[in-house]
Amino acid sequence: MFFKKKITVVGTLVALVVLGIAASAPADPTYKNLKVLPKNITHEQLDSVMHQFNRSLNVKCNFCHASQKDNPRKLDFASDEKGEKNVTRDMMRMTERINKKFFKFKKEEGKIPPVGCMTCHNGNPHPEAMAPKEEKKGPPPPAAPQNPAN
Ligand code: HEC
Ligand code: HEC
Repeated sequence: MFFKKKITVVGTLVALVVLGIAASAPADPTYKNLKVLPKNITHEQLDSVMHQFNRSLNVKCNFCHASQKDNPRKLDFASDEKGEKNVTRDMMRMTERINKKFFKFKKEEGKIPPVGCMTCHNGNPHPEAMAPKEEKKGPPPPAAPQNPAN
């Protein structure tokens, strides 16, 4: 008798906890496979992040996103098949850490962090590690005509 009652109480508690989680989770999460970006990100925000990636690296969406199996002309955005997508997740974590640790950046609505993908990539998927070699100077330009007044 005592045991039965205890089990019912525990059962009710478990049911309440499960219901509570279900009620606070979005009914229909827009995106299926976000590991770095917040799960409740809006469509507009995600779109803006992705377009920043495109422009900072000078690539198209298919640089990171694999094609759909049944329709190669469409992209399967949730798929992790392309290595570039996973590298990007690390790049996002790294960039966030650089801003926080070395620039003491605190996230605030509308505030742009000092370091972004653009800082290093500057329109190049493979940022250079070395400065360009010093350019060999060509012949000097023809001397400017002398001004007799000087
Ligand atoms: C430089 C790589 C890169 C480029 C370019 C890129 N994405 Fe992404 N995209 C990602 C990464 C990484 C994620 C997953 C982020 C995470 O795990 O939080 C993602 C996630 C997404 C998702 C969410 C998929 C899901 O259901 O989980 C959509 C939709 C998406 N991207 C659309 C686009 C579109 C549209 C473009 C072109 C305008 C684009 N992406 C360009 C790297 C990229
Ligand atoms: C501190 C500098 C730095 C920042 C900031 C940075 N990256 Fe990178 N990224 C690099 C370097 C360096 C490489 C390696 C280039 C190579 O090996 O050719 C790289 C490589 C990559 C690659 C792999 C390219 C390939 O073809 O394999 C992707 C994708 C990428 N970065 C995306 C991003 C995105 C998106 C951001 C912003 C969230 C970002 N990176 C921020 C320095 C940076």
